[in-house]
Amino acid sequence: MPADRGPKRPLRSAQTYGKADRDGFIHRSWMKSQGLPDDVFDGRPVIGICNTWSELTPCNAGLRDLAEHVKRGVWEAGGLPLEFPVTSLGETQMRPTAMLFRNLVSMDVEESIRGNPIDGVVLLGGCDKTTPAQLMGAASVDLPTMVVSSGPMLNGKFRGRDIGSGTDVWKFSEAVRAGEMSLKDFMSAETGMSRSAGVCMTMGTASSMASLVEALGMSLPANASLPAVDARRRTLAHETGRRIVALVRDDVRMSQIVTRAAFENAIRVHAAIGGSTNAVIHLLALAGRLGVPLSLADFDHLSRDVPLLVDLQPSGRYLMEDFHYAGGVPAVLKRLGERLHRDALTVSGRTLGAVADEGEVYNDEVIRPWDRPVSPSSGTWVLSGNLCPQGAILKPNAASPDLLQHRGRAVVFETIEDFKARIDAAELEVDETSILVLKGCGPRGYPGMPEVGNMPLPAKLLARGVKDMVRISDARMSGTAFGTVILHVAPEAEAGGPLAIVQTGDEIEFDGPGRTLNLLVSDAEIARRQALRGPGEAAPARGYAGLYVRHVLQADAGCDFDFLVGGSGDVVRRESH
Ligand code: FES
Repeated sequence: MPADRGPKRPLRSAQTYGKADRDGFIHRSWMKSQGLPDDVFDGRPVIGICNTWSELTPCNAGLRDLAEHVKRGVWEAGGLPLEFPVTSLGETQMRPTAMLFRNLVSMDVEESIRGNPIDGVVLLGGCDKTTPAQLMGAASVDLPTMVVSSGPMLNGKFRGRDIGSGTDVWKFSEAVRAGEMSLKDFMSAETGMSRSAGVCMTMGTASSMASLVEALGMSLPANASLPAVDARRRTLAHETGRRIVALVRDDVRMSQIVTRAAFENAIRVHAAIGGSTNAVIHLLALAGRLGVPLSLADFDHLSRDVPLLVDLQPSGRYLMEDFHYAGGVPAVLKRLGERLHRDALTVSGRTLGAVADEGEVYNDEVIRPWDRPVSPSSGTWVLSGNLCPQGAILKPNAASPDLLQHRGRAVVFETIEDFKARIDAAELEVDETSILVLKGCGPRGYPGMPEVGNMPLPAKLLARGVKDMVRISDARMSGTAFGTVILHVAPEAEAGGPLAIVQTGDEIEFDGPGRTLNLLVSDAEIARRQALRGPGEAAPARGYAGLYVRHVLQADAGCDFDFLVGGSGDVVRRESH
């Protein structure tokens, strides 16, 4: 052991590399084919670097470089770094939706960690689903674990102004449909939006999850906001490499960091930053892996007294680069003050309270003071009622205040294809008081629960200047999207939820402040329609999609697979030969 102190308990890698027998020969000899000298198998901590780099995940393009900097830190601290790839998920590239494969990647991560002789792991992720998939997989093994995120892209630029990933795509697209922007201008914005490696630079799902990683205590400070191409992200990676070796020596497991208190901190930060609705699903799934009790209702009650403090798109004006220069997550922690569990431990070795104390706010416009928030309401509203027996959610600060209490006539689309075929039809009976209802986009129904809940508005209403309508579905929406959009209706239509029996012309009543969502149809009529329901779409019979529809849980349980909830620890009892 080259360092001055040994581990708190025997390293699991010693079971592989510490044996002077045939098995030890096999394990070491093949590793030496990579140029590793004898003395790296001297009982030092072996650190896995779990990398989701892929050219098909452009948001994670910087991770190959960052892995090298993690390795420097690991070597320096007396560990042996070994990088390994797992399946990556490019949010903008994968069809039918990257969410279909989040659980698959979590299985890849879990089994890669458990099956290999590693003592601790650094997770390199960024694009939306890679971070939760890695956290979920690692949680089910529960080794000492840290995260280094991709970091956000540089701010987008178009004709002298900043533009935000996703958020401005939705805005520009609606402007084209309303006849306010030419197609030529629309196309010319494409290159300026994505100017560097890194994740969407709005507070979309990737930056929300990276911020929550920080709030959970799973990364070093500033991990979420340091731009992907900032040299200090390399420094952060280097320091993470040093630190993970110390965590292994001290045997600080992921479950000691990601506790109920850590989740409560994350939910409060999620509210203050105006985080993505997708984070609700991912945190619920992560809690399930760790056995931490967490419910949809927790998101509502824990965020009720937290205003929107961070003025970032899609809820506000600025972008992640601005957020970093304003102080990033540590500054938000400082603003949250006593509303956090300050004694929650972080992988830095300090408490979250100590990290908050070191936070500084450098720009009060980007990170607002408590008495001058961007909006008094933030977080997640969790709705209940006869249309969503297991809940539905709404992001209040992305919605129009005048639509937060609304009663209207449903205009129903049975599938997303039905929606696309009819939404711009001249004969569609719809006005701005209507409520658009979309079915068949839940975890089982699509399958994979795509980000289509922020349905584009009818072109004829856009042309009249309508900017928002109440929309309801069992789908998700992009973290970069906005609008009065009620999402994650559970049970979904395909699973027999009441959403399935809504018909065009029905009245729906939505009361945001009262947290209710009701179909104004009698119980007898609902029962009659349920009895008439035919079988849903034939589920895929084979392959991963077949496994998915048979085992995926509903949104209120995080859309994990029923057989993946919980963990199996890090012990492997049998040899491979
Ligand atoms: Fe990858 Fe937004 S598409 S982070």
